[in-house]
Amino acid sequence: MITVSELSKAYRGFTALDDISFTIKPREVVSIIGPSGSGKSTLLRTLNLLVLPDAGQITIGDESVNAKNLHRININRLRRKTSMVFQHYNLFRNKTALENITEVLRFARKLGRKEADEKALEYLNRVGLHDKASSYPAMLSGGQQQRVGIARALSLEPEVILMDEPTSSLDPEMRRGILKLIAEIASQNITMAIVTHEMNFARDISNRLFFMDQGKLIAQGTPDEIIHGHAGGRIDAFVNDFEI
Ligand SMILES: Nc1ncnc2c1ncn2[C@@H]1O[C@H](COP(=O)(O)OP(=O)(O)OP(=O)(O)O)[C@@H](O)[C@H]1O
Ligand SMILES: [Mg+2]
Repeated sequence: MITVSELSKAYRGFTALDDISFTIKPREVVSIIGPSGSGKSTLLRTLNLLVLPDAGQITIGDESVNAKNLHRININRLRRKTSMVFQHYNLFRNKTALENITEVLRFARKLGRKEADEKALEYLNRVGLHDKASSYPAMLSGGQQQRVGIARALSLEPEVILMDEPTSSLDPEMRRGILKLIAEIASQNITMAIVTHEMNFARDISNRLFFMDQGKLIAQGTPDEIIHGHAGGRIDAFVNDFEI
């Protein structure tokens, strides 16, 4: 369960997040949509405190952080509740697929070498990459690199997985494979928040959609409510740009 209340963030006077409040229930899949620059990435990055909020509170499971109380120890505790899948994969170039995963398991989760290796292999297997464990990112396709990114995020077994445009660096063929993998993961009782421009995908896999505009969360509802609900001018205009 994620509860965000009255979250705000400004960059040198520019309001990127404006008084955002919402709840995401356990095992709920939420897609965050909205125009470019509306604050979607900032919101995700604030949820795992890569970006620190100016005001408001974030609670994930039994950990809570308030903007007024950003101590290192609270930040680290909350960070452990999430893991992130990035648009550009963010893999270590000089580490193999396996090491990209064992590295975080050993240092962020303090697992021993053997346990980390076993878990990393288990998750590489799960994303269909067991035979690429010793390949370096440069030897992998974009789709395979993103599979490593997804395996790494899953291997941390967080309370919530955050994905920021996980398919937008990929060509169409690779994109379909990754969308299918994420849809499978979404159906497996995992709590996820995904920023995506893939409207059909968002509609199909999400329990709810959040629509952001100019730093505000201006609508949240079921895909049907948001896409067909004639929620209002800006949302209708945005949704109508996609062929759904
Ligand atoms: N580090 C930063 N410094 C200054 N301004 C920033 C920074 N990061 C984001 N912004 C601004 O905050 C606003 C929201 O950015 P954000 O990246 O969250 O948008 P977005 O909805 O993810 O857009 P896109 O769909 O293009 O990825 C934008 O106007 C952006 O220019
Ligand atoms: Mg973004």
